[in-house]
Amino acid sequence: MIALGCDHGGYELKLEIKKYLDEKGLEYKDFGCDSTVAVDYPVYAKKVARSILSGECDKGILICGTGIGISITANKFKGIRAALCTDCFTAEATRLHNDANILALGGRVVGPGLAVKIVDTFLNTPFSGADRHMNRIAQMETE
Ligand code: RB5
Repeated sequence: MIALGCDHGGYELKLEIKKYLDEKGLEYKDFGCDSTVAVDYPVYAKKVARSILSGECDKGILICGTGIGISITANKFKGIRAALCTDCFTAEATRLHNDANILALGGRVVGPGLAVKIVDTFLNTPFSGADRHMNRIAQMETE
């Protein structure tokens, strides 16, 4: 199950991503928001982060205007690794190396065509499982 969340700056792009997920027959849960009326992105980042940590969802996609505020918020949660990606190379690398569990996108940064390719790459790239990457991920959890 994929968790989706956005603010007003990411709402239009979220609709495009939902179209892609529907076409692929991929299940998702949309935690809002539901329009372009201004809202606070931390609300949606927290809902998506919690759904992953509880096991309700496996991965998440968060979208705000830049992808920055929503990813910073999600990354406050221990066990969340939210990666802000603007290209397919970083989307692939963050799955292979960081085992990122949330993809963050900027709805005012990437167009829908590129965003869908980034989502596709993120969802279809497994974690490498390499010892060095597992070791580095473990180190992220301590200050
Ligand atoms: C909202 O205007 C904007 O600040 C938000 O979508 C995001 O870009 C914050 O990081």
